[in-house]
Amino acid sequence: MEQTFLMVKPDGVQRGLVGEVVKRFEQKGFQLVGAKLMHISSQLAQQHYAEHRERPFFGELVEFITAGPVFAMVWQGENVIATARQMMGATNPADAAPGTIRGDYGVQVAMNIIHGSDSPESAEREIGLFFSEEEKVAYEKTI
Ligand code: CMP
Repeated sequence: MEQTFLMVKPDGVQRGLVGEVVKRFEQKGFQLVGAKLMHISSQLAQQHYAEHRERPFFGELVEFITAGPVFAMVWQGENVIATARQMMGATNPADAAPGTIRGDYGVQVAMNIIHGSDSPESAEREIGLFFSEEEKVAYEKTI
């Protein structure tokens, strides 16, 4: 079963959007495999966003993602990686379609509410960075 890593960023947690985000993925039909409210260390932030290390906004990105608690999650389901990206909307909320999470709740690219893995390789890497095996559940039956 395909799995992805999703994270409500500090702006989303602060604005009380955790329930809304979880509700959308539950109602879509995906299964929650792991979840935790946590503070990201600067070291973890730099590992997580390693591919953006050379970008001019890297420092700002690390500062923002470590500024407050995030809600980290693992979700599973058929085609969950691509479908979650569609449900999140474009990275820049200004370009995100209404009906998507960023389109409905975001305005700024730096504070775009949610992160989601962009490929199977990223999903595996990011899940491994944030979750131990014991922190994920296995469902007996998949509906
Ligand atoms: P995310 O999907 O978490 O992956 C990298 C993040 O970089 C992205 O969401 C944006 O929040 C952030 N980002 C992209 N472009 C900019 C920018 N120009 N300034 C600040 N942050 C950015």
